[in-house]
Amino acid sequence: MYVEVIATHQNVTPDELEGRYVVVIDTLRATSTIVTALANGCKQVFPVTSVNEARVLSSSWDPDKVLLGGEGHGRPLPGVFLGNSPRAYTTDVVAGKTLFLVTTNGTVALHKAQKAAQVLVGSLLNGETVANRIIRDDPDDLVILCAGTQGQFSLEDIITAGKILGHIWENRPAVVNELAIAAFQLFQFNQHQLAPLMAQTVHGRRLAEMGDEADLAFCLQEDRFPVLAHQAVARVCLLPTEQAFA
Ligand code: MLT
Repeated sequence: MYVEVIATHQNVTPDELEGRYVVVIDTLRATSTIVTALANGCKQVFPVTSVNEARVLSSSWDPDKVLLGGEGHGRPLPGVFLGNSPRAYTTDVVAGKTLFLVTTNGTVALHKAQKAAQVLVGSLLNGETVANRIIRDDPDDLVILCAGTQGQFSLEDIITAGKILGHIWENRPAVVNELAIAAFQLFQFNQHQLAPLMAQTVHGRRLAEMGDEADLAFCLQEDRFPVLAHQAVARVCLLPTEQAFA
């Protein structure tokens, strides 16, 4: 297996991802929110890139079955019912609903991966489950696409990539790029002190400034949701358990 970790979605084009096996990571917070919503009974998530797109696409759906969520510059968007805090996506809010989610980086990264052969949604909340699926599928060519933050590398995404890689490496020989080596080392070195490390990141500091530091603690819960979410035909849903864990 060859593993390429990519630091931000700006570093890759949709054509470069075409036909490949991709894991998209936006630890703070888009992919953590998607994993939480689906684990709590949300039916499916459409990652979209603007509020207008969310409104147009959702307009043909029964309003009782639709949720709009997301953020702009980390803050809830005007007129959008839910922000991007995974803690808001509780069972009573999301069960049976279809979510249209717009975020600054994470949903854009998912969009970019639409021509990939397989797209898994990765976070610390489900990292081991994602790794187990990759080990099972044993792709020749794996891309771990970190969303990053507006073109900049994000430590929290690289840490999640390192966790997933660590599980893979225990089970499969893999040739990797240099960022993968850095991700693996960073996670190994810091895995017992993720909270103080993440509090120093741009995103961690921004969440604290907004009074959302509880989101940081939430997103750092390793393997809280052993679910496998994948994107197919522009929507993300859970893979059935028997397919996820067979
Ligand atoms: C993003 O897509 O950039 C993030 O999820 C932003 C956030 O929720 O803070």
